[in-house]
Amino acid sequence: MRRRNFLALTGLFAGLALTGCGGADGNTGTLGFRNALRIPPLLDPAAGADGVRRFDLRLRQGRSEFLPGKSTPTWGVNGDYLGPTLRARRGDRVAMAVTNEVGEPTTLHWHGMRLPARMDGGPHQTIQPGGTWSPEWTVDQPAATTWYHPHPHGTTSQHVYRGLAGLFLLDDDHEVALPKTYGTDDIPLVIQDKKFTEDGRLDEDFGGTYGLLGDQLLVNGTYDPHFQVTTTRVRFRVLNGSNAHVYHLGFADNRVFHVVASDAGLLARPAPVDRLRISPGERFEIVVGFAPGEQVLLKGFSGDEEIDRGDYDILRLVAAAQLAPSAELPQVLTPLAPPAVGATVRRFRLGGTNINGREMDMARIDEVIPAGAHEVWEVDNITFAHNFHIHDAVFRVLDVDGEEPPEHLRGPKDTVFSPGKTLTRLAVEFGNHVDPAMPYMYHCHILRHEDRGMMGQFVIVEPGTENSTPRELHSAGHH
Ligand code: C2O
Ligand code: CU
Ligand code: CU
Repeated sequence: MRRRNFLALTGLFAGLALTGCGGADGNTGTLGFRNALRIPPLLDPAAGADGVRRFDLRLRQGRSEFLPGKSTPTWGVNGDYLGPTLRARRGDRVAMAVTNEVGEPTTLHWHGMRLPARMDGGPHQTIQPGGTWSPEWTVDQPAATTWYHPHPHGTTSQHVYRGLAGLFLLDDDHEVALPKTYGTDDIPLVIQDKKFTEDGRLDEDFGGTYGLLGDQLLVNGTYDPHFQVTTTRVRFRVLNGSNAHVYHLGFADNRVFHVVASDAGLLARPAPVDRLRISPGERFEIVVGFAPGEQVLLKGFSGDEEIDRGDYDILRLVAAAQLAPSAELPQVLTPLAPPAVGATVRRFRLGGTNINGREMDMARIDEVIPAGAHEVWEVDNITFAHNFHIHDAVFRVLDVDGEEPPEHLRGPKDTVFSPGKTLTRLAVEFGNHVDPAMPYMYHCHILRHEDRGMMGQFVIVEPGTENSTPRELHSAGHH
């Protein structure tokens, strides 16, 4: 209650102070919601004769008109900005052909996917200009909203910022009555901030503690968007695809909505909230109820960290005069076992842009982990706001400074916000793809921090071989 009043007041003052100036403090009241929300096309290929589902992805340069009358040079996947939504089912064999036409070396990482390290698309899987990378794996994890983006060491911020990213939806056989018609009542919301120069180019000034904190927002690459609601309930799959900004999502009328899934899959039951904090790389699926004919604004509310100041209008939702009835929200979404708390505890101290006092070294293995291990990872943030992502793993948040997290943060995740000066304990479950010579990454997903070396590497090994595993990679360093 007190916090709500405080937020409302700061919002009011920010609004007053900012009238007509549109600085880094938000965009409230500056939009007209003129553009229909773009829905990224679904790339859902039929399986070939061998049963393998093949996806062709071209990373390329393009141009986009975000601001009226201004042409912005951008990058995209199979298009000018962002990429198609990929979709696969648990058990599918998928094969990617990723061709790099952007003119500089890059990679494509499958964030949230459980797969062998050589297929992961991290900094070791460089695709040279003109080259094609062809990873292949079998999808074996619960239904979730995952995403893909470049991960070249040192230039991830630029490559993601220019527009290389997309969603990768995973389905499974677990039946749950949630809205599921893509583009109708199952809607992706890729939220990103941008800063534009006078002539409409993307400002790439990545200075400051957090790098770029834009003053304009795009949703699915749409500036100034609205969405036409046609059903009484809509599921939104929200991805914070920003370089650094953290959003406190909510509606202008403060309506309650339900979180049904976090990064790695469904929650046990829908969690009611009226604000939802989402940091870069995190995903939440939410279900929102609508009345016929109403209009409501999805907003980002200001918070108290430097990284989330600002009051943003994000998307106007316009409900049709008649809405098709949706199913009731289920009481139970999935049976979720309590987190398995392993005996091994590792501590990761988050410094300015380092972890445990060290910056990323592509030739150094920081942690060696037995296949299938359950461990407790303690994310000990001794500085300012960061977040923490682990590749090929799924975790549950045990506690934050000793306190149990709110209900919507108790589900399966792969990325978590780490407020300044807090200790976040995670119960982590690691994968089974053994490869002592090819690491996975863990890192802060604030991309400037990641690029500056706030990242470490771990390998998954046969249990019992931890101590005999080399800690140096001789092939690394000349990628
Ligand atoms: Cu979304 Cu290592 O990244
Ligand atoms: Cu990742
Ligand atoms: Cu950070």
